[in-house]
Amino acid sequence: MEVLDPVRLVGRKLKLRDISRALNSPGRSVFIFGERGVGKSSLALTAAQDLYERRRAILRVVCGAEDSFATVVQAIARAIQDYKGKPDAGSRQQSKPASKMREKSQPAAVQSITFSEIPPPSSIDEALYIIRNVLAGRPDDVVIIIDEFERIASDGERQKLAEFIKNTPTLGARIKFIVCGAAVDLTDLVGHHPSVGRIIEPVELERLTHDDLSAIVLGAAAELKLEVPAEILDRIAEISDGLPSYVHLIGDSLFWNVFDDEAIVKRVSLEHFQAGIQDSLRRAEAALSRLYEVATNRDPELVDSEEVLWALADVSANQRHVEDIYENSYLPVMACRPGRSKLDRETMTNRLRTLKDKAHGAIVDCYGSSQEHWGFSNGVMRGYVRLRAQKNGIAIGCCEREA
Ligand SMILES: Nc1ncnc2c1ncn2[C@@H]1O[C@H](COP(=O)(O)OP(=O)(O)OP(=O)(O)O)[C@@H](O)[C@H]1O
Ligand SMILES: [Mg+2]
Repeated sequence: MEVLDPVRLVGRKLKLRDISRALNSPGRSVFIFGERGVGKSSLALTAAQDLYERRRAILRVVCGAEDSFATVVQAIARAIQDYKGKPDAGSRQQSKPASKMREKSQPAAVQSITFSEIPPPSSIDEALYIIRNVLAGRPDDVVIIIDEFERIASDGERQKLAEFIKNTPTLGARIKFIVCGAAVDLTDLVGHHPSVGRIIEPVELERLTHDDLSAIVLGAAAELKLEVPAEILDRIAEISDGLPSYVHLIGDSLFWNVFDDEAIVKRVSLEHFQAGIQDSLRRAEAALSRLYEVATNRDPELVDSEEVLWALADVSANQRHVEDIYENSYLPVMACRPGRSKLDRETMTNRLRTLKDKAHGAIVDCYGSSQEHWGFSNGVMRGYVRLRAQKNGIAIGCCEREA
């Protein structure tokens, strides 16, 4: 799923440089954090690839909810032990012509992890002992990517694992760690610790700019020798709301539609785009579509909640004043909905209150002492809501209207 080739990684040059510098400093590990789908794993793999070129094996451990400090250390140890040396780089698969938005192949040097008989460490010292030993048996230096760190459900286990990473400088320069975790604030994941700045280099990953998002689509289109009209390019970037995961989802669906077209297509049409939107919704993360349904389908009397959600998603801000939502987004949305009667401001605010309710998935939240600012509880939802609006022919999220 992730981008491995630094040339294909758009807008992350400076981050790559920071990571490379940190990993080249003795005893430093990197912690990449940011919102879901912002590109953490891709950045980690690309940065690791840079080290791989300098003769390091890349091993990746993906965490799960049930994982603990001990099981992750076991997985790392097993990965090091099982590593069979570097495969031939020339053996990578080629992607299909219409898959330019997707990963090119399973990265050549990355191995999947299976759990092992390696003993579960009961302390950080034991964990260091195990890793030191398995490492001693391997000829190559390694870079370990610990991915989806946030999925470890237990706070205590996450903190213990972070503590282990803070102690890895004692393992020497043969092993480097890159950790990825979905969080807006690093302390949510690892807790407060004075050594975070010295031993762990925090790399915060922001959303990509509109131009970066467009560049991702243009890059793929160029490889497919397709022209994408500016209007469609802008819409993809606008809907994606800074997240490359949405650009890839929409771009991939769009290009498959072009690929499936019986005619020979040189220029993407609005029909391809609209069909691509439908497919994107079908392929979007099930959790997002479930939440959207829970929010909008629970109560048939509240059908107009959907339009309120579209209005909220119109601007890429986490907290919007209710007046702004109503005047600048809700009324323009309703102007594109002939035959639907619009709510007054008070009723629209009541709908937002309902959407905040747990029974409606608590999809939105309100902020401030006067409780007049509203936003999505999870920022990833905004892109999904924009997709739903686009499916209904409503173009929200347009740059001109953004605050
Ligand atoms: N800078 C970039 N340029 C081009 N494509 C990117 C970039 N960053 C990420 N992508 C693409 O966006 C998608 C999501 O990226 P990735 O899986 O790395 O995000 P993530 O932050 O790890 O997501 P999650 O939080 O779900 O683990 C992938 O398809 C990846 O190829
Ligand atoms: Mg990831």
